[in-house]
Amino acid sequence: MAATNGELARYLELTPKSKARWQEATEYLPGGDSRNSIFWDPYPIFVTSASGCHITDADGVDRLDFINTMTTLILGHANQPVMEAVKEQLDRGAVYNAPNEHQTRLAKLLCDRIPSFDLVRFTNSGTEATLNTIRAARAFTGKNKFAKVEGGYHGTHDAVTVSVRVDVKKAGEAQQPKAVAASEGLADGILDQVVVIPFNDIANARRILEDNKDQLAAVIVEPVMGSVGMIPGTAEFLTMLREFTEENGIVLIFDEVISFRVAPGGSQQYYGITPDLTSLGKIIGGGFAVGAFGGRQDIMELYDPTKGPKVSHAGTFNANPVTMVAGAVTLEHLTPDVYRDLAELTELLRQGIRRVCSDLEVPVQVTGLGSLFGIHFTGQPIVNYRDIAAEDAALRGQVFLGLMNEGILMASNLVGGLSTALGEEEVNTFVGALQTILERQR
Ligand SMILES: Cc1ncc(COP(=O)(O)O)c(C=O)c1O
Repeated sequence: MAATNGELARYLELTPKSKARWQEATEYLPGGDSRNSIFWDPYPIFVTSASGCHITDADGVDRLDFINTMTTLILGHANQPVMEAVKEQLDRGAVYNAPNEHQTRLAKLLCDRIPSFDLVRFTNSGTEATLNTIRAARAFTGKNKFAKVEGGYHGTHDAVTVSVRVDVKKAGEAQQPKAVAASEGLADGILDQVVVIPFNDIANARRILEDNKDQLAAVIVEPVMGSVGMIPGTAEFLTMLREFTEENGIVLIFDEVISFRVAPGGSQQYYGITPDLTSLGKIIGGGFAVGAFGGRQDIMELYDPTKGPKVSHAGTFNANPVTMVAGAVTLEHLTPDVYRDLAELTELLRQGIRRVCSDLEVPVQVTGLGSLFGIHFTGQPIVNYRDIAAEDAALRGQVFLGLMNEGILMASNLVGGLSTALGEEEVNTFVGALQTILERQR
């Protein structure tokens, strides 16, 4: 299949105002933005408004949103009950130098839903949440190293900026991945603190953990590897991690910043596996900046100011009432029926993508769980990061721009997360658009 520049030419034609705005932005912001994960070649669109499942750019192009701000907006854009609650709160002030009761409301919702949550604390991002889970694990165990999965993304703090989207040529054998810095500028010694394990490879991951067990404070894992490709962990792999950490006094951390949207109690409820600590973000803030971490009472108590605290934790905007009320209203809306409907709709989409690709003889793997999905152009099953690194990146780039041209927004690596604002009609539009794009590639 020949990759052409046809999609690029059409994209340039459709987005002149976005291009001008981006060029102006580059005069003040390196790369024109503050979030590298939403940059794509040749430049991103500038969004002027969004409502429900629709997102409109500076050129007036309307697109269906299948990424929902990297899976955050599970109820879609500008959801009315969420916006009304936020507006009501804004009239009472945006942030106080004292606790507010919306925080307790959201904390209760989370503790009631998540099997592993005795106690929870809020932050402003998933990054701060994973930072705190690892810090708490170190404080609790008195050990320093932690293990993470190759390809696993846990935010932008130094400790986890290791072996994310690695160049596999520099990352050693798949069975024994090397820790590789994912950015310049990390503090000295960071790589020595991180033990990297292959995802869904029970024997090799267990062997590596065994070799390091006496130094490990924690194992952190996304039960569904999210931003890198929406790859579900196997129940056997996650169970091995639970058993191994339990046997060896190591804290098991589930990073559910993305995978929490799989079930009312997160993917830990779906898999029936209870971690010691969990990090959250995205959907629990209803579209506002958020993170949270929670879990076992004896670990979370390290944060209790009436008992020390042993672990320091502050943040001017932590648990601000605007985020807390938006999150609470969002979770209250998310009944088991809503999860079921979203999962069914997403399965319809996965089947449609597979059908179109099969008809056109394009090798594809469609991954995901619940309302999460990822499209991978390869004939090989997608089990871990190395499989993603081997897929057809040129076709992926063409399909991403093609979807933009056909009125569909996804992440540029073709992962997505549905919202309740989408329905069968929009799913059919997506599948039809994909068919048109793949036919143009022939
Ligand atoms: C699994 C996971 N952990 C942590 C983070 C970091 O969250 P934030 O971007 O809110 O800092 C992300 C962000 O995409 C994520 O997907």
